[in-house]
Amino acid sequence: MALLIVAPNRDTQAVQEHLRKQDPTLDIRIWPVIGNANDIDFAVVWKHPPELLTQLPALKAISSYGAGVEGILNDPLLPGDLPVGRISGPRLAADMAEFVTAVIINQHRGLWGFYEDQKAQRWQPWAPVGTPRVGLLGSGNMGAACARVLLSLGYEVHCWNRSGSGELDLTYHRGEAGLQQMASICDFLVCLLPLTEHTQGILNADLFAQMKAGSYLINVGRGDHLVEADLINALDQQQLSGAYLDVFQHEPLPADHPFWSHPGVLMSPHCASFTLPEEAARLIYQSYCQVQQGKGPLDAINRQQGY
Ligand code: GLV
Repeated sequence: MALLIVAPNRDTQAVQEHLRKQDPTLDIRIWPVIGNANDIDFAVVWKHPPELLTQLPALKAISSYGAGVEGILNDPLLPGDLPVGRISGPRLAADMAEFVTAVIINQHRGLWGFYEDQKAQRWQPWAPVGTPRVGLLGSGNMGAACARVLLSLGYEVHCWNRSGSGELDLTYHRGEAGLQQMASICDFLVCLLPLTEHTQGILNADLFAQMKAGSYLINVGRGDHLVEADLINALDQQQLSGAYLDVFQHEPLPADHPFWSHPGVLMSPHCASFTLPEEAARLIYQSYCQVQQGKGPLDAINRQQGY
């Protein structure tokens, strides 16, 4: 019985230390040093190498190291019946909510403009009238956390999800018509969806044409949700007032990509919310124990649905 962690560019040393505090006897392998592969029965992976799953004959379950599972589901070598879970805890969701709220507030309150005013020594008092209406695409762990914070600020919150319903005190929408309806009335549209065949390219010219004139797009889901050329067009046509992007089709963003210098785009390098070592270790251990008890990994996804 051994646990394999594949998380390049993450602080796996710290994760390992936190795991050892929970169970000093745990057999932990950190990729690329996997030891005897026949021992490994649970793997927690992020951007795992293409052939890895063929080397793990004893695998009982697999989990994403983060919230997104598309990197696992898109692996053509993933055994058809292997349960797939994810590591998506309250800290990850709270960090996302904080980030999305910060972006909305900065835009809504015109803080970017004040930075410019300060540089030019301009004294221009200004405050917006009214509170923004925010449309969230997705109501999972991340979407719900964002909704709660925005509701606490007194914002009008809408949410588009598969069922068109949920537990929070906000307006839910579903289907193609629901998406258009939500887009047409919201000042901010925030993509927090999982990436599936149904959501790929969902942020496209058709949607931008439906969005309220001058509204603002935030993508913290995945780069492939967005048709990048359509966004540049919508910004150039001033259909949208701007966009904040944390995720991109190619990461790191290529040096010659137009987003780097587009005046309508603000961006960050896929770090709106990070799986932090302490929370990761706690949830990995919980998931590992569940797998050993035959219960399947934590936060198991529906492979047909893709999330
Ligand atoms: C980050 O992008 C994640 O899926 O956790």
